[in-house]
This record gives sequence, C-alpha cells and structure tokens, in this order.
Amino acid sequence: MSATAKKRAPMPDDIRAAKGGTPLVSLTAYTTPMAQMMDAHCDFVLVGDSVGMVLHGLPSTLGVTMDMMVMHGQAVSRGLTSAMMVIDMPFGSYEESPQQAFRNAARLMSETNAGAVKLEGGVEMAPTIAFLVKRGIPVMAHIGLTPQSINTLGGYKVQGRGDAGDALMADAIAVAEAGAFAVVLEKVPETLADEVTAQVDIPTIGIGASAGCDGQILVVDDMLGLFTAFKAKFVKRYAHLADDGEAAIAAYAEEVRARTFPAAEHVFSDKAPSK
Ligand code: KIV
Repeated sequence: MSATAKKRAPMPDDIRAAKGGTPLVSLTAYTTPMAQMMDAHCDFVLVGDSVGMVLHGLPSTLGVTMDMMVMHGQAVSRGLTSAMMVIDMPFGSYEESPQQAFRNAARLMSETNAGAVKLEGGVEMAPTIAFLVKRGIPVMAHIGLTPQSINTLGGYKVQGRGDAGDALMADAIAVAEAGAFAVVLEKVPETLADEVTAQVDIPTIGIGASAGCDGQILVVDDMLGLFTAFKAKFVKRYAHLADDGEAAIAAYAEEVRARTFPAAEHVFSDKAPSK
C-alpha cells in the first residue's frame, strides 16, 4: 500500500492482503497532533502501551491502565483520516480469560473508534485471539520480546535465539491460525524473522527484526529523538527533537531574563490598528 493510493482508511483485511507487497508503514501515536503528522504516511497507527514510558514517565508498560488507553486512543482517533488505528490492550486487561479480553477489547473499540486491538503472547493467547476474532474484534498479535512480560522474560532481551527459535515459530503459527490479521515481531534475530515471514500467511511487522518483514513499526518518540532515557539498538533517530526543544527553551529563558522577549512585534499598542 502507498500513501498516495489510499482512498479510505485500510481495514484489517487490507492489511492482511498487503502480505508480501510493498512494506507496511506504521508508527505509534498517543496524541492528536502526532497522529495528524503521520496520518498520510502510515498504513496503520498503533496507540501503544509504550505511552506509559514515553509520555507518563513509567518505568515499564505494566502500569498502563484501560482508562489511559481509552484517553490516548480517543486523542489519536481525532487526528486520523486515512490510516487505520490499532490500540494496545494493556497488561492485566486480557490474560485472565477470553471473556475478560472481549469485555475490554469491546470497550477499547467502542470508546476510541479503533479498527483493531493488539495483544501480546503466542501459543498461550491463541484461544483468546480466536475468541475475539469470532466475535468481531480484529486482533494484531505481538510475539518475540513482549514488554508486558519483562519480569518473566528477565528483561528486554533478544528472543528466539538458538533452540528458542522453534518456540517463536510455533507462536507465530498459532496466532496466525487463531485468526490474527498481522503479527508484530519484536527483537528477534533477523534470520528467524525472515523464516517466520516466509512461513505464516499474515503480515509480519518488525521492530528490531528484519527489513524482510512485511512491515515495520517504531515508537514515534524514539524515532523523533523525543524519548532519550535510553535508545534500543533497533531504533533509528530520524530527528533530535528533545535536543532541539531544550535549545529552544534555553533561548527563551535567556531572552526573558534579558528582557529581549517579548519584542515590539509581540506586544500591543493602545491604539486600534488603522483599517
Ligand atoms: O507499545 C508499543 O509501542 C508497541 C510497539 C513497540 C510495537 O507495542
């Protein structure tokens, strides 16, 4: 899919049909202005639970709540007209049972206008994915490094190296067979990502995976250089907005203290402007 060819926001089936074609383009977004900036350039936009770390200063995604996702989902939705919106199910909102997952996914879809939900997990979440899809909720799966499980994975490590590759392949096949319309592969070896891409019939969306995936996603604050607490190897910074922003704020502070801001063009005379 290309930005210029788009006439309406893609549906999950359009994303699925893009398998093997021009790579799908995706970024995360959490606010209306960011969504507006990327709308014409992305096939889908993810309201990621990374919002907890990049906007709210949380140490991980585990503290993100349904209410936070709803609020950011509504903001992003207001900024999109041509990209599909996918929204993350936060930690604790879907793992307990398919019924719990349905209740929370339905709330996210109805209150934010998202076109699909994303949830983390492979073989163990396949029955939940099938339950949701059969009840009208399109699901994007997320396997490999699943940040909501860092406490059991032992941190943000590469997943699927060596013998663990078989389990990751089994996860990919399970979520595809369960009816997911696409699967995010996070932080997996390049060769394994290529094998998964060849094996499953749904698009693979890479983040720290391979250029051979059917699409790519990055956290927007990472690629714009706005989130600087740390930089994962898979992040490419296309801009340095935190540095630019701090320089601008420092310049403003200096001008305020020197009384050079506001200048003549920023203040009002007591006479009404002549017509
Ligand atoms: O929450 C998020 O931003 C994500 C992407 C990293 C895929 O899940």
